Order: sequence, then C-alpha cells, then structure tokens
Amino acid sequence: MGIESSCDETAVALVTDDRQVLAQRIASQDDEHRPFGGVVPEIAARAHADRLAPMVRAVLDDAGLTLDAVDAIAATAGPGLIGGVMVGLVTGKALAMASGKPLLAVNHLEGHALSPRLADASLAYPYLLLLVSGGHCQLLKVTGVGQYTRLGTTIDDALGEAFDKTAKILGLGYPGGPAVERLAAQGNPKAVPLPRPLLGTAEPHFSFAGLKSAVLRAHEAGVHAPADIAAGFQQAAIDCVIDRTRRALAAAGEVGALVVAGGVAANKAVRAALEDLAAAHGLRFVAPPLALCTDNAAMIAWAGCEKLAAGHAPDPLDVAARPRWPLDPAAEAVRGAGVKA
Ligand code: KG4
Ligand code: ZN
Repeated sequence: MGIESSCDETAVALVTDDRQVLAQRIASQDDEHRPFGGVVPEIAARAHADRLAPMVRAVLDDAGLTLDAVDAIAATAGPGLIGGVMVGLVTGKALAMASGKPLLAVNHLEGHALSPRLADASLAYPYLLLLVSGGHCQLLKVTGVGQYTRLGTTIDDALGEAFDKTAKILGLGYPGGPAVERLAAQGNPKAVPLPRPLLGTAEPHFSFAGLKSAVLRAHEAGVHAPADIAAGFQQAAIDCVIDRTRRALAAAGEVGALVVAGGVAANKAVRAALEDLAAAHGLRFVAPPLALCTDNAAMIAWAGCEKLAAGHAPDPLDVAARPRWPLDPAAEAVRGAGVKA
C-alpha cells in the first residue's frame, strides 16, 4: 500500500511487485486552494487529515482486500509540506502498527524517479531522469534504488512553478501548467522575445526566475496576445530544458534511456522535445502515462516494492518526517533547490 500526501494530492494505492495497480484513489485539493492561487500548507494538511482514513478503506474495498493481504505500507516521509507529510506518515505508521506489517518511509522524489519502471518493466538502470514538477526541477542519473547522482537542479524556480506563475500572470487560474499548455497551442512562440536563462553555459543548473519576470513585463506592456506570451514562454522553457538535459547527457556517462517524470512531464510539447533529443542521442525515451506523472500513490507503493526487492530494511515506527530530503545527499546545496529539497 502506498500513501501520498506531500503536497495537494491525497492518494492511496495498492500495487503488486509484478507491476499491477490493484486499486488507487486520488483526491485533488484544487478547489480548496484555487481562491489563493497556490497551495496553502495548513489547508492542505487539514484536507489530507479529513480524507486519508476513509480513502484507505475505500481502496481496500475497491480491490476486495483487507489489510491482512497487504505486505507492507509505504508512506511518503518527505520532502514536501511538513503538515501534509506528517498526516500521511502517521497514517502509515498507524496502519503498520495495527497490522504488524513493515513500514517503508519513502522519499517522494524517489517515487517520481522510479515511477517510469512501474510503467515500463523493460526500463533498466542506469537512466538519465529529468524530474520536473511544481516543487522540483532536477536532472539525476538513476543507477539503482537509492543510488542517485544529481547532475543539475534549479537555482530559483521549479519548472512547474514557472508554468504556474505564468498562468497566474496571464489570469489563467490554478493549477496553471495545463492551462498554459492549452493557450500556448493557439499562440505564436516567436511573437514575444523572451530570455533563455543559462542557455549554453557550462553551469549545470536551471534558472527560470528571469524568464518569469520577462513574462510579467511582456504582459504588462499590454501589446501581446496572451496566447503568444504563453507560447513564447513554453518555447523558451523547453529550449532551456533541452539545453540543460543535453549538457547532463554529456556528463552522465553511460545511460540506457532518457526518462522524464513529475507533473510537467504531462506537457506534450515538453515530451515531444525530449523525445527528439533522446532520438538524436540514439537513446530510448521513456515517459510514464500522465496519471503516473502527477503526484499519485502508486509511485509511492512501487518505490516501496523496489526498496523491499533491493533488500532495504523496513523503517522504525518512530521514523521522522522530513520537509527537506535530497535524493543525492552528496550534491552541493543550491539556493533555490535547497528551499524545496
Ligand atoms: O508532480 P506534481 O503533480 O506535483 C509536485 O510534486 O509538484 O506536479 C505539479 C506541477 C504543477 O506545477 C503543474 O502546473 C505542472 O506540474 N503541470 C504542468 C502540466 N500538467 C501539470 N506543467 C506544464 N504542462 C502541463 N500539461
Ligand atoms: Zn511530486
């Protein structure tokens, strides 16, 4: 059983070690956070607390199983909004204690990093992972369970955050990524000149703050169609992502595939550009189905399966929730990314 509650999705799933998702439920909190234009941590934690216990029961019912049939409980233990993480982790601990089943404290980012292997049994290690979500923007070489080398991260905003802020500037509402993608499809990506921060530099990281400010200035100028701004923003962001990923491919050494995960992996233009990049390098391109890209509990359950299969010991019931939890502890701290992971 996987439990996810690190941001604004409450989710529970049952997954087998041969990659069957037996049941899963997910409740988004978009309606609660929409009036504020972003996730309010306290509202998120309360909504998780209201929803999680009934959801655990519902998922067991959906699968026609009882807790007896569950082998282990995997709960997100960080990084994320600490109130929500604690709600999910405590729920996992209570279930583990009541049932006598092992508890696995899962890093949310590890859930994203391994999710492509849930969708694709043939995806072998090592692979280069672009993890792009609302809170994270990282390039990681994934060599095995628990073996991650960070090759780049953001020094300010995450890519999903840049999409969300662009949506806010353009008045498209929340969550912004899908709305920006839809509007961009109607615009001319060349109509509005926008910067491509760090493009072509030897520096390994991402930066989107300057692009976001340029979007704001373009909007305030009042002369551009919103669709052109959206299209220009999306193209500039993609150019940056491709440039940074190309650099990471050169630094990664041997990898068998280029993989994208996280909420922004749902963006078709981002996927298409990455697919072209992989093809140019003679690499396989793997992107999980959209439901596995955005936050979900199947990826947390799957990370639990992978950890058990790799011989990882269960975690003690007093394991702590971690608001920050880098996948690669050896990587140098970077200001923007440090705030979030
Ligand atoms: O992985 P996720 O569900 O949650 C986090 O861990 O952050 O990612 C959510 C992020 C949001 O910033 C959202 O705007 C972005 O993914 N997103 C998209 C698209 N769908 C979701 N960004 C661009 N295009 C999309 N189609
Ligand atoms: Zn996530």
